[in-house]
Amino acid sequence: MAETSFHLRRAGPADAAALAEFAARIFSDTFAADNRPEDMAAHLADRFGVRQQTDELIHPEIITLVVEEDGRLIAYTQVRRIPPPDCVTGEAPVELGRFYVDRPWQGRGLAQRLMAAAQDAARELGGRTFWLCVWERNPRAIAFYEKCGFRDMGAKEYWLGADLQSDRVMAGDLARLGTGDTTADGRGR
Ligand SMILES: CC(C)(COP(=O)(O)OP(=O)(O)OC[C@H]1O[C@@H](n2cnc3c(N)ncnc32)[C@H](O)[C@@H]1OP(=O)(O)O)[C@@H](O)C(=O)NCCC(=O)NCCS
Repeated sequence: MAETSFHLRRAGPADAAALAEFAARIFSDTFAADNRPEDMAAHLADRFGVRQQTDELIHPEIITLVVEEDGRLIAYTQVRRIPPPDCVTGEAPVELGRFYVDRPWQGRGLAQRLMAAAQDAARELGGRTFWLCVWERNPRAIAFYEKCGFRDMGAKEYWLGADLQSDRVMAGDLARLGTGDTTADGRGR
C-alpha cells in the first residue's frame, strides 16, 4: 500500500455529519443483502445521524479514528470502554466497537493499519484485554479477527431492527494481539 495515499486521524465533533453518512452507508453495504429492508431502515435510523455520531464523538470513553483519502472517508473504527459480556474474563477490558473498511480498500492492508491504531487507542483507554462482537454470518470479519489473534469467547444477542441475531464475542490480550499482517515485516500473529 502506498504510504501517502491515506490519512489516519482521530475524529472529533466536526466530523459528525460526514461520519454519520459514511457509517450508515458502509453498514448498509455490508449487511443489507442479508437482512430485511425494514430491519435495516430501523437500525440505520436508530444508530446513525448527526445527533448519534456527535454523542459518540464527544464521549470521553470512546475514541473514534477515521481514515481519509483525498478528504473522503474510507474507513473508521471506534474503541469504547464499556462493560463486557460475562464471557470476556480478561483484565481491563476495552471494546473494539466498530471496525469498517470501505470495499475498494478491503484486502489491501488498510485494515491492518487501522487495527494497529485501534489497539493503541485501547491502550490509551487503559485496556489490557481487547474484545468485540461480530455477526456470526460475517465470515470475512471473523477470519480477519482470527488472523489478529482474537479468540472466540461465546455468543451475544444483537437486535437488528426487529430481528434477533447472534454475534460471536471474541477477545484477546492487548500485549499479544497482532494486526492481521501476515507478511514477514508485519506485527504478525
Ligand atoms: C472486516 C474487514 C475490516 C477486514 O479487512 P480486510 O481488508 O477485508 O481483511 P483481510 O483481507 O486482510 O483479511 C480478511 C480475511 O478474510 C478471509 N476472506 C477474504 N475474503 C473472504 C470472503 N469473501 N469470505 C470469507 N472470508 C474471506 C481471508 O482469510 C482473509 O485473510 P487472508 O487473505 O490473509 O487469508 C473488512 O473486510 C470490512 O471492513 N468489512 C466490512 C465491514 C465489516 O464487516 N466490519 C466488521 C464489523 S464487526
